[in-house]
Amino acid sequence: MNILIIHGPSLNFLGGREPDIYGKFTLTQLNALIKKHAAAKKVKVRIFQSNSEGGIIDLIAANLAWAGWLLINPAAYTHYSYAIRDAIKASGLPAVEVHLSDTARREPFRRVSVTKAACVKQIRGLGHNSYLSAIDFAVKNDKK
Ligand code: DQA
Repeated sequence: MNILIIHGPSLNFLGGREPDIYGKFTLTQLNALIKKHAAAKKVKVRIFQSNSEGGIIDLIAANLAWAGWLLINPAAYTHYSYAIRDAIKASGLPAVEVHLSDTARREPFRRVSVTKAACVKQIRGLGHNSYLSAIDFAVKNDKK
């Protein structure tokens, strides 16, 4: 089972970025946790981070033939990118939207997700465990 994992804008700042909200792990540490969890579940992962909308869409397209699932933290794009929503839908991949923080309990603009409708599930507010739970969800719900 192959899972494409995409971290959106400013997630490269993890570790130093508002650690009270996003946790103390750097992106490298978070990715190491994800890889360890995936290996334990016998899942192959490709992990990318992009700060641009087009970059994220290109990553989905470039890995489409390989991927069986998409786990995506669109970060701020969650709240307004119809382009990423369309790309998730266009990929035809079952997708899980992931957030470290509980976006439903933050500023009003973060409570809106325009990308969620293109995903089969949204997992938020569990810190790094949001990603691990998303892997578990994909494993449990994989139809292949
Ligand atoms: C985030 C929440 C978004 O509102 C924010 O713009 C992010 C990270 C999260 O993982 O909690 O960059 O997606």
